[in-house]
Amino acid sequence: HGTSRTNKHGHLEIGGCSSVELVEQYGTPLYVMDEKLIRSRMREFVHAFEETSHPFQMAYASKAFSTMAMCKIVEEEGFLLDVVSEGELYTALKAGFPAERIYMHGNNKSISEMEMGIKHRIGWFVVDNLNELTMLQQIAASKDVSVRILLRIKPGITAHTHQYIQTGQEDSKFGLDLTPSQAYAGVQQALQSSHIELDGFHCHIGSQIFDVEGFVHAIKRMTAFAHHCHQMYGLQTNILNLGGGFGVRYQESDSPLPISQYVKQMVKEVQAGFQNFDWVPEIWLEPGRRIVGEAGTTLYTIGTVKEIPNIRKYVAVDGGMTDNLRPALYQAQYEAMLANRAFEPVSEVVSIAGKCCESGDMLIWDVSLPPVRTGDTLAVSCTGAYHYALANNYNRLRRPAIVFVNDGTARLVVQRESLDDLIRLEQAIV
Ligand code: LLP
Repeated sequence: HGTSRTNKHGHLEIGGCSSVELVEQYGTPLYVMDEKLIRSRMREFVHAFEETSHPFQMAYASKAFSTMAMCKIVEEEGFLLDVVSEGELYTALKAGFPAERIYMHGNNKSISEMEMGIKHRIGWFVVDNLNELTMLQQIAASKDVSVRILLRIKPGITAHTHQYIQTGQEDSKFGLDLTPSQAYAGVQQALQSSHIELDGFHCHIGSQIFDVEGFVHAIKRMTAFAHHCHQMYGLQTNILNLGGGFGVRYQESDSPLPISQYVKQMVKEVQAGFQNFDWVPEIWLEPGRRIVGEAGTTLYTIGTVKEIPNIRKYVAVDGGMTDNLRPALYQAQYEAMLANRAFEPVSEVVSIAGKCCESGDMLIWDVSLPPVRTGDTLAVSCTGAYHYALANNYNRLRRPAIVFVNDGTARLVVQRESLDDLIRLEQAIV
């Protein structure tokens, strides 16, 4: 992926930095993020839209990977920032991210989250439900401010992806149904409130999506809805936020479409939907995975190698479901290589085990590697999205450090947790 290559010593190099040296300096497990690849993925979206001349605004979904260093990149690349909690909002504000370029998602925003957003004057709230709309309206009224919103619509589309990361289907906890008592009621309520400005609509059909079809269906539903709202309430939909969900390559066999292909189709569909109107909405997208997924590599040190004759060779690494929950949670599949002996031909099929006390803590079942030895460095690719974000302290393992690499320079972005961090919130024993 990206700027990865093998250097003359046979070591995997990422962003011009030798993985062997990174391991010596920062230890393992280590998340390595290729900054150039992050930026180029962001620019791909921008260029794709620029080619269409359709008005657009890109946003980055913090949930995929939220750190202050990432927020800084997002700001520099001119994206908006999507946050879903006060924690993500706090991270962004602490990074100096301009509040007016942030918008807040969430299916169950707390009053304190809404108050925090209003206090810092974030750009928009993406309102998920009528309860929230009422609360937001009350908070805005009590502070006598006006709040801009998008309404999150459930377009009733089933995306072809893992059940747990589908979101746009009818039976989903996210968004308003396209029914009189939900979406239409939301629009009416928003239009009646002097403290709410309804700027447009949002939908998100799922994640790790490889085709354009689902998006096209969603756009059809959304444009039909926008028409009805225009006919019924005279509402001009200024913003159509179509969410994220663009697939990435975890394995050789994954073949995600070029971003320009999604964007071209989406623009075409929106323009067709609005051809009889004298305005077109801006298209907003909020990818997470496509921006950071392939930019991440996790480096591990190989420890126990255990052969069960005629059955399987278990190769254990010094991390596991604590730093990569995705195999356990979604049966996600990964590829790996020996980062310290990248030239050596593969010669055996092994399975990569984590070190947690769970049989399900397997990172990869069956991967081809050169003969593996204890002490080797294993690199697992495509670990930039929903890895650090889903990291946890099961078995009281410490969360890994994160380094950003770029043009041969590595910078520490998050320290490895210390043992003291693990008990930091605990009260002393008296
Ligand atoms: N917008 C909304 C409203 C979302 O719910 C999500 C993801 C995104 C944008 C960004 O989607 P992306 O472009 O990253 O696919 N933990 C799971 C993925 C959960 C996605 C949740 N929502 C995984 O590791 O596959």
